[in-house]
Amino acid sequence: MTKKLFVANWKSHKTNTDVISFLEKLKERIHEVNMDNKEIIICPSFPFLSQAKAKAEELSLPIRIGAQNVSNYDEGAYTGEVAASQLVGIVEYVIIGHSERKRYQHEVDSDIEQKIARAKEARVSVIQCIQDENSRVFEGATIVAYEPPTAISTFGTGQPDSPEHIQEVFSLISATTGDRPLLYGGSVNEENVSSYLEIESCSGLLIGGASLEVDSFVSLLLKW
Ligand code: PGA
Repeated sequence: MTKKLFVANWKSHKTNTDVISFLEKLKERIHEVNMDNKEIIICPSFPFLSQAKAKAEELSLPIRIGAQNVSNYDEGAYTGEVAASQLVGIVEYVIIGHSERKRYQHEVDSDIEQKIARAKEARVSVIQCIQDENSRVFEGATIVAYEPPTAISTFGTGQPDSPEHIQEVFSLISATTGDRPLLYGGSVNEENVSSYLEIESCSGLLIGGASLEVDSFVSLLLKW
């Protein structure tokens, strides 16, 4: 059985101390979780990535660390930007093309294409978010996450997509995604998580709100 991915997208939530206490609390509960059939990727904000990685190692937590964005540029005079090469050794994954970045930072496909190229050069695996079956999937994407904007809990209507429709979208994009893992994201919670995990072509989930507290996150992990 291939492992299902549980990707926690923390967005701009949590301070330094919140990140540490989450990981400490997760350590207390991780023994309840079957790690043979899943992988956990936690994506905190940039300032906490190194610390989250160090803390996870110190606690021997079976998690990987991901970033939520990356610059379209290489290292250089780009104030406020974080280059993909600066993430090397800290993260294994980066989320690119999230619909919140499209809406609030006005990211367009050409930005996404450049960001994915920079991440590939740095050998950081890309989780590319797409919004529907017509979104462009870039060759450099390692994993593709289908997240209809309306389904995102704090962004759209918070109406999760149905497993049937997700399956339909996955098959519509299969010609371009090939054998790359496909994730679903948008209002995943304890009640609906099983129905998504049961979709055979669904390799995992991108989880926002329900990943912010250890208890709610673990309750999802315990469903698989
Ligand atoms: P949500 O967020 O689970 O809170 O809907 C998912 C996401 O935006 O990645």
